[in-house]
Amino acid sequence: MYDFTEQVVIITGGTGNLGQAVTRAFHAAGARVAIVGRERQDAVNLFGDVPEGETALYVTGDLTDESSVADIGRQVADKFGRIDILVNTAGGIRAGSPLHETAVEVWDFMMNLNARTVFLMSRAVIPYMLERGHGRIISTAARAALKGTAKHGPYNASKMAVIRLTETMAAELRHNGITVNCLLPGTIDTPANRADMPNADFARWVSPESIAGVILFLASEAAADINGAAIPIYGRS
Ligand SMILES: NC(=O)c1ccc[n+]([C@@H]2O[C@H](COP(=O)([O-])OP(=O)(O)OC[C@H]3O[C@@H](n4cnc5c(N)ncnc54)[C@H](OP(=O)(O)O)[C@@H]3O)[C@@H](O)[C@H]2O)c1
Repeated sequence: MYDFTEQVVIITGGTGNLGQAVTRAFHAAGARVAIVGRERQDAVNLFGDVPEGETALYVTGDLTDESSVADIGRQVADKFGRIDILVNTAGGIRAGSPLHETAVEVWDFMMNLNARTVFLMSRAVIPYMLERGHGRIISTAARAALKGTAKHGPYNASKMAVIRLTETMAAELRHNGITVNCLLPGTIDTPANRADMPNADFARWVSPESIAGVILFLASEAAADINGAAIPIYGRS
């Protein structure tokens, strides 16, 4: 459906549930993919169908660490000579306590994992995009970013930060051929969620493949005029 031949895509959290689907969708559409994970062996085990070579690079690093992230950007640019698209899927949740019983470590962990990673990774790739006058940054916030809910304070706040960072970059880069958008998934149909909520109706959740489809659209020329959006992807949940 889309043709991303020649384009270079970085997928953070590429070894995660959503990241795997995004990686496969871009690779099938002709893109060269840089799969960012923490353990190289995870990518080796998962991506027999996307082997390292001319069209794929496995990159490891800690996305919360400034120098590690700068190194990731350099490795991808050295290998492929350009960076066209950044998809931030790395992220996660820690929740379950009312705010007055939440350890400061949980706050730091959530802000680092969900917001700092988007800040650092976006900051690292934007200069490469400015060089070419073209780019796409697509990040994963969450439906939970839109409203505070009991026992999810740091998570909700960290995902709200992703929306604000998206809007900021969209405003800053709109005259440079670069669009910046984010997604607000509802519950994603993952093995972890099925294990945590065995009695839920899984058919109401959104599949990683469905979200990947939205990401490819946002990365395509058809979405050139969509900038600064936070797009709900709730399925029927
Ligand atoms: N699952 C849901 O229902 C849901 C709903 C709304 C929004 N979201 C958001 O959607 C995104 C994808 O969710 P998912 O379910 O696919 O998550 P996932 O399967 O847990 O994958 C997360 C990925 O991020 C990587 N990662 C975590 N910390 C990292 C770090 N410090 N440095 C580098 N990589 C790191 C993980 O690597 P390791 O495997 O090495 O830990 C993994 O590859 C996340 O941002 C999540 O918050 C999820």
